[in-house]
Amino acid sequence: MRRFITVSHTGDSSGNWTLNDLAAGAGRVDLLCRNIQSAFFLSHGLREDVEFYAVFAASPVRQKTVRIQGSAIQMLHPDERSTAARLQQALVASWSVPDWKDVQKGLSVAAFGLEELLADLKGKGTLVLLDPKGEPVESWTPPVDPIFLLSDHVPFTKAEYAQLDGIGAQRVSLGPHWYHGNHAIAIIQWQVDKHQAPVSADARSRKLA
Ligand SMILES: C[S@@+](CC[C@H](N)C(=O)[O-])C[C@H]1O[C@@H](n2cnc3c(N)ncnc32)[C@H](O)[C@@H]1O
Repeated sequence: MRRFITVSHTGDSSGNWTLNDLAAGAGRVDLLCRNIQSAFFLSHGLREDVEFYAVFAASPVRQKTVRIQGSAIQMLHPDERSTAARLQQALVASWSVPDWKDVQKGLSVAAFGLEELLADLKGKGTLVLLDPKGEPVESWTPPVDPIFLLSDHVPFTKAEYAQLDGIGAQRVSLGPHWYHGNHAIAIIQWQVDKHQAPVSADARSRKLA
């Protein structure tokens, strides 16, 4: 299983935003959508062995995490608007407990942020922080169940770095230049695919675009 976590430091976790204003009013939800697309889509298929976690960390009191599971999600399309709609549907869903609530098949939401997510994923894989100061990707061998961590357009905070270092996250570098998160995901997918072939459903059989 490959897991991707993107921490959004500006995304509005209320879901009370319009799909016409993803890059501004929603707080760079457009960026999360592009990361989701790079995590899941092959040219004619969807990676079933991928889970994506969008952590809405902007408000300390209203943190939420949306989970998309490639093995179960249906009608996920490779465009930002419809992907944002799925995030929005998860964010506005009500729940009574902080743990995962299933909103649709393969789409869930929890009322917690990065710290609780990392506790939830404990024992499920190896944490890999994508960071230009890490081990060069060329000499790195992917672990069996990598859990990749990326920030959005805002750097990880000192507290987040300390937290990730404290639990032993590996740092892996794609080189000295900063890339967009979706490009970083595409590069790491290409690299991991060389070691572990993707598990993919054919697009047409699952009604994908
Ligand atoms: C747009 S970048 C973040 C830029 C942000 N200004 C910062 O300083 O963190 C989004 C994410 O892509 C990943 N990334 C970008 N370039 C990378 C590189 N050269 N090596 C490893 N990861 C990279 C990192 O995980 C980063 O948090």
